[in-house]
Amino acid sequence: MQVHIAGILMCGVSVVLTVFNVSEDRAHCPLGYFPCGNLSTCLPQLLHCNGVDDCGNQADEENCGDNNGWPHLFDNYFGMPSNNLGTKSNACLLGTVPAECQCRDLELDCDGAHFKEVPTVSINVTMMSLQRNRLRKLNADMFLKYQSLQKLYLQHNRIKAVHPHAFRGLYNLTRLYLSYNRITTLLPDVFQDLHKLEWLILENNNIHHISSLTFSGLRSLVLLVLLNNALTKLDDICLEMPRLNWLDIEGNKMETVGNVTFRSCNMLTVLVLQRNRISYVHEKAFSLLRKLGELDLSSNRIEAIPPDLFVNLGDLLQLNISYNPITDLRVDHFDKLHKLKSLSIEGIEIGNIHRKMFEPLKNLTHIYFKKFQYCGYAPHVRSCKPNTDGISSFEDLLANIVLRVFVWVVSATTCFGNIFVICMRSYIRSENKLHAMCIISLCCADGLMGVYLFMIGAYDLKFRGEYNRHAQAWMDSVPCQVIGSLAMLSTEVSVLLLTYLTLEKYICIVYPFRYLTPGRRRTVTILVVIWILGFFIAFLPLVCKGVFRNFYGTNGVCFPLHSEQPETLGAQIYSIVIFLGLNLVAFLIIVLSYGSMFYNIQRTGTQTTKYSNHIKKELTIAKRFFSIVITDSLCWIPIFILKILSLMDVEIPGTISSWVVIFILPINSALNPILYTLTTRPFKETLLQVWSNYRQRRPLLSSHPAHLPSFTWQEMWPLQENSQTLCTPDYLAHPSEMSNTAQLLPVEGSNGT
Ligand SMILES: *[C@@H]1O[C@H](CO)[C@@H](O)[C@H](O)[C@H]1NC(C)=O
Ligand SMILES: *[C@@H]1O[C@H](CO)[C@@H](O)[C@H](O)[C@H]1NC(C)=O
Ligand SMILES: *[C@@H]1O[C@H](CO)[C@@H](O)[C@H](O)[C@H]1NC(C)=O
Ligand SMILES: *[C@@H]1O[C@H](CO)[C@@H](O)[C@H](O)[C@H]1NC(C)=O
Ligand SMILES: *[C@@H]1O[C@H](CO)[C@@H](O)[C@H](O)[C@H]1NC(C)=O
Ligand SMILES: *[C@@H]1O[C@H](CO)[C@@H](O)[C@H](O)[C@H]1NC(C)=O
Ligand SMILES: *[C@@H]1O[C@H](CO)[C@@H](O)[C@H](O)[C@H]1NC(C)=O
Repeated sequence: MQVHIAGILMCGVSVVLTVFNVSEDRAHCPLGYFPCGNLSTCLPQLLHCNGVDDCGNQADEENCGDNNGWPHLFDNYFGMPSNNLGTKSNACLLGTVPAECQCRDLELDCDGAHFKEVPTVSINVTMMSLQRNRLRKLNADMFLKYQSLQKLYLQHNRIKAVHPHAFRGLYNLTRLYLSYNRITTLLPDVFQDLHKLEWLILENNNIHHISSLTFSGLRSLVLLVLLNNALTKLDDICLEMPRLNWLDIEGNKMETVGNVTFRSCNMLTVLVLQRNRISYVHEKAFSLLRKLGELDLSSNRIEAIPPDLFVNLGDLLQLNISYNPITDLRVDHFDKLHKLKSLSIEGIEIGNIHRKMFEPLKNLTHIYFKKFQYCGYAPHVRSCKPNTDGISSFEDLLANIVLRVFVWVVSATTCFGNIFVICMRSYIRSENKLHAMCIISLCCADGLMGVYLFMIGAYDLKFRGEYNRHAQAWMDSVPCQVIGSLAMLSTEVSVLLLTYLTLEKYICIVYPFRYLTPGRRRTVTILVVIWILGFFIAFLPLVCKGVFRNFYGTNGVCFPLHSEQPETLGAQIYSIVIFLGLNLVAFLIIVLSYGSMFYNIQRTGTQTTKYSNHIKKELTIAKRFFSIVITDSLCWIPIFILKILSLMDVEIPGTISSWVVIFILPINSALNPILYTLTTRPFKETLLQVWSNYRQRRPLLSSHPAHLPSFTWQEMWPLQENSQTLCTPDYLAHPSEMSNTAQLLPVEGSNGT
């Protein structure tokens, strides 16, 4: 809240934070606003659960957690666990018990005792805990003499076989825990004497077959947990369990839910079918579950939801159909769920999303979508998640205030630096025209990055406070595609040019005698090829819409680093080829060339130059190498890492991508003018010249001192005194051209000290 207001003050743009007075119909708040309890005011969703009492009656700080699901229902139906602590004595009433066990009142605790058999104790025992023992089999009549037993804990044993008479005689048993064993089948009638059993916990076994007869006799059962087994099919599971309230079949291998599966489960309130392989649900599958309060069908393979699947679930409070490959949600799917409070449709692309879809859900308080943009279609729901994709939020294209400010700063720096260099280049007389052409090209490419950021900043301003209304249209729009491709053009041309410049220097230094200066025609050809290649790379995705779909418009900043939607295969391959192929190769060429150049200079240097002088020069050369390689690494290594991580299916938060796009990607573009022009000696000398000319009121740069080139040469490349003939000896004949070569060298003007 404070940050947001600070943002408004800083940017001088007013966000519609007005508190609306809606008197006639308090449920009708404008898009993105929620009503303040029984007051007539509406507040922006942003203020919901932010820790500040914005409504004045705390209504905006209520119901912050989504407790509509089973924890809430659990309390309702099972109450708080009552252990009758008062009536229990601490003394052992079971007589002698095995040394490994602890006994209290009529309860026996033998956890972790390495037993292979059920220990022999008094027949009056009411609770027996045998967790983490070594039981392998439950034999017939094993517990027959312990008929007072009410709770039996057998978790974490190695039980594989359960005899059909294993639990005979346990008429008073209310809770039976068999989780974390190796049970594969449960035969019919195995629980037939457990008339009072209320909880049966079978999670984390390997049960793959069960029939309704397995549960015969369980007429009091309310809770059945079959989590993480291997069940593939269930038929009329509740037939013998008329009171079953709670059924958890999460993490099995069910493939279909037919109309008979839950036919007799008319008391069921919680049904969890999460993480199965369900691809088909009969339209009448849940039609008899009129008391159902929670239904979880998430993480299955359901592609189509039958139109009438939910019509009889008038009591449903929570519905989760997230992470199914549902392609078509009907507008009237949820119409009958009047009491629904929490709806999860995460991970589902809703192409036909419409406000009508959620309007009948008057009591809905929590909704979970795939994208924050969808929140605009459920304006009456007070908690809508996600409220950001990391880059943009419900309100703003750039969710973060720092990003909002710095998009301008970085854009201004980049634009100004590059334009300044383009203008100043023409004043540097000693300049090799071809080299100047390369540098101006580089500045143009880098300047495009500034233009891109400027546009992002401008659209952020335009959509400020109401981004969610425009988000989808913006990402699909032509401006988004165009500025995205501008950014791509900028990075790719810049990368290619830097590689070209580096390679040129490298060849000149490492093969001085074979080196031929590139002629005008060759340089122009190379530049043209680089630009054409850049245009091709950047605009190909716009031309081939079929293959790439919306390559740039996958997020608010229109740069294809981060995508919420699954990309098409073509787009995926393309961005890998560009970011991990072309750019990585270019980066390696730059780093290796500079490394090799440095090594060469050092070697020739130590052979020829006086020691103290040599050290100093070398240091400055090293510094410049270092800064060039470092800026390239800063820019590209994070992007490579991001791409590799996303290749390995690591989920990258959008936040990181947005920071990369605003801060990391433009690093090169912002610093290139400084590295390749502003700190070089010819430039500084020109500047000094301009300054002194100005002071002496002489015409600008009327005469360039003739000795300057060789001086520059000496200053900059002192280590090469003996190999001054590097590059073609022709240069000796044209000493004035010396500096031109010098400017191609990486260490020009190495006076950073
Ligand atoms: C809302 O209405 C009440 C009276 O109905 C008024 O006192 C209050 O100032 C109004 N609030 C706004 C923000 O207009
Ligand atoms: C809102 O409800 C509170 C109690 O829940 C009550 O004290 C207050 O008067 C109500 N306000 C209105 C405007 O109905
Ligand atoms: C079981 O309890 C009854 C009464 O509560 C008692 O008479 C009997 O001796 C107890 N049996 C054992 C084996 O402790
Ligand atoms: C079962 O419990 C009831 C009361 O809950 C008790 O009267 C009965 O004796 C118990 N049966 C056995 C076999 O312990
Ligand atoms: C279940 O559906 C089948 C057809 O899909 C139908 O023949 C059968 O009568 C239905 N059973 C019930 C109990 O509705
Ligand atoms: C819905 O299901 C998904 C996946 O199973 C889960 O991550 C999410 O937390 C569930 N939503 C609610 C509200 O429980
Ligand atoms: C919504 O909830 C309120 C109380 O929370 C309840 O009185 C009302 O009947 C519910 N609406 C519907 C349509 O069930």
